Amino acid sequence: MKVVAGSASLGLGEKVARELGFDFVRPHVERFPDGELYVRIDDDLDDEVLLIQTTHPNKKIIELFLLQDALREMGVKRIITVVPYFGYSRQDKIFRPGEAISARVMARHIGMNSDYFIGMDLHSENVLQWFDIPTMHLHATKPIAEWLKSKGVDMVISPDKGGYKRARYVANEMDVEFDYLEKTRLSGTEVIIKPKNLDADGKTVGIVDDIISTGGTIARAAEQLREQGAKRIYAVCTHGLFIGRAMENMKRVNDFAATDTIESVHSKITVASVIAKAIGKLSSMQ
Ligand code: R5P
Repeated sequence: MKVVAGSASLGLGEKVARELGFDFVRPHVERFPDGELYVRIDDDLDDEVLLIQTTHPNKKIIELFLLQDALREMGVKRIITVVPYFGYSRQDKIFRPGEAISARVMARHIGMNSDYFIGMDLHSENVLQWFDIPTMHLHATKPIAEWLKSKGVDMVISPDKGGYKRARYVANEMDVEFDYLEKTRLSGTEVIIKPKNLDADGKTVGIVDDIISTGGTIARAAEQLREQGAKRIYAVCTHGLFIGRAMENMKRVNDFAATDTIESVHSKITVASVIAKAIGKLSSMQ
């Protein structure tokens, strides 16, 4: 099997290929003068290909669809599509009449030219129900726990109830205390976090979230934890979008990190071993 990575996941794809001892294929991706994308894969491929591409920002989604089509045209029989960060996953239901279920649209289109889907710390597992191919949901629990351990974190916090499970797994992995804050979203950029009776006094706290977007959630959580006497605060997420005032908001914590599901200077943690292990298991099951 060879590993093909789209331009959003070149670093991660190369690491996964190295861990698995597979050849790495970097497709040729170009833009026409009108902005439309062009992809070409020059390497010979086997019957089975591992295709890795994060679907963010929008242009990377089109690139994924084109790569899947190119693989099919080249005669690849089994495409395992890994989407490290699944864009549009937060719109996974109708919040107001007239809306689209964007996550479902994405799932259906990704599944069209794919034989197996692998997602990583999906905002909601709902997404998986919209694939009519086998799926696997991976978690960045271990590498995130290792990073927090290296910072001496002795308490893990989820900034909201929705992320309760994810953060609890990290806390269990580290064998430290766990709790969550209660968050209410006022708008796309504003959240308030209601006080909760946490015993953060004197603690080194790690805030774990699936996504850091504007960083508003982390900033509010950090303020709350400081008020409660936290000594040091670290923030970590699987998917680091870091948009708008994110860098300003990140000043509220002692340090922060994201994984390489979205590749950036903040990707201090890699999920390559998580993906490689899953592929190893999948191959041995066949
Ligand atoms: C929302 O439910 C997610 O789990 C994250 O908490 C959210 O996307 C973070 O957004 P922001 O960084 O803009 O507060």
